[in-house]
Amino acid sequence: MSDDKLYIVLMGLPARGKSTLALRLLEAFRKDHIRTRIFNNGNLRRIYRPLDETSRAEFYSPRNFAAIALRDKFARMNMERARSYLRNSGQVAILDATNASRRRRETIETYLNDHPLLFIECINDDQEILNLSILEKTRLPEFSHLEYKKAEAEFLKRIDYYKLIYTPLKMERNFVCLDSLQNRIIKEKHTDPIYLFARLRDYLVTDEVKNLFLIRHTQTEYNLEDRIGGNPGLTIKGKEQAEALAQFFCAKKISYIFTSSKIRTKRTAEAIASKQDYCRIIALKEFDEINAGICEGMTYAEIEKKMPDVFRAREANKYAYAYPEGESYATMKPRIEEGIKKAFFLNRHSHNIMIIGHQAVNRLILSHFLYRREVDVPYIYIPQDRFYHIVSMQNKKLFELKRYDKYFYKKTA
Ligand code: F6P
Repeated sequence: MSDDKLYIVLMGLPARGKSTLALRLLEAFRKDHIRTRIFNNGNLRRIYRPLDETSRAEFYSPRNFAAIALRDKFARMNMERARSYLRNSGQVAILDATNASRRRRETIETYLNDHPLLFIECINDDQEILNLSILEKTRLPEFSHLEYKKAEAEFLKRIDYYKLIYTPLKMERNFVCLDSLQNRIIKEKHTDPIYLFARLRDYLVTDEVKNLFLIRHTQTEYNLEDRIGGNPGLTIKGKEQAEALAQFFCAKKISYIFTSSKIRTKRTAEAIASKQDYCRIIALKEFDEINAGICEGMTYAEIEKKMPDVFRAREANKYAYAYPEGESYATMKPRIEEGIKKAFFLNRHSHNIMIIGHQAVNRLILSHFLYRREVDVPYIYIPQDRFYHIVSMQNKKLFELKRYDKYFYKKTA
């Protein structure tokens, strides 16, 4: 058995991030000049069968024997194609399908026996992420002929059918179970030596970002008064800044904007989204500004005057100090990390990702990609007339603070 070639067989229920992972691996291997191709059963299904048939849950019923035969046929077609790809110049063949039953996986192991084979199970049971992923799925062309509620019901039923035959990886010779939201390996088993595995393992657990545009919401009344927290809207200048941002980004393709649940980030995002062809705003509570507890809505001067102990304690250790009944940078950090994972999971195949957050939030997001000592994190510069452009790839790191307001200044000059 030659060991410099590899079959990667994905496995997992629908909407668990398999195709996103397949694309990530494809890009990563290709960057290393490793010839890689994806073989996706769903694509064959969509090419060879009418959409009205394959979008229906019944097509996935374990009692629909005609459909089972068709699905087996597409799986076999992809196995043959993958085998012939590796027999020729290909090095890595990624088979992207649900592969939920042990029966299907046995067939794959038996047929693809000329090179090592690694199963990767994608697991993610975060309900909020699942709901959002399902919403995205039902917007695909496959469901375009169905109204949204119907598409959602069909998709959920499809998942239930797959659950009936789902057996987790166990007997297979080589496998990795991956938490596809956290990019964390939960379990692994190795029987055969896999030459590319060290490289692959590293890809699986790396958060890479092509272009992250990290923006702070534009000016609010509270900002003018140096007042913290609350849920204020934008000032006139804030609206103009949002327009300038929209103008600046209109030539870039932004498919998703992730915001907090606060009005100021949503309004900033709405202005930007209005100048994009297709852009969805997804509000994540994880990106809400630091909760200032009993100090919410106060100005810094008021806190210093009315609660000098709070003011001084925070000054003495701003990273670790938690406002009474509120948060510190340290306690916020896990939820910000969770927000980053969710945003990256949902952003899927788009190369540009935009987050519109707040001062403390953006400091923590920045420090996720750019190392800063904890004591310095609460002082990272987060202006409202600039944004951070971050590229964080295995072979490239870039952080630039950029102005977006040339249009704004031109307009008001
Ligand atoms: O002042 C704007 C703001 O976003 C407040 O809502 C928040 O409490 C503060 O910034 C966080 O910054 P710092 O940690 O420097 O007080």
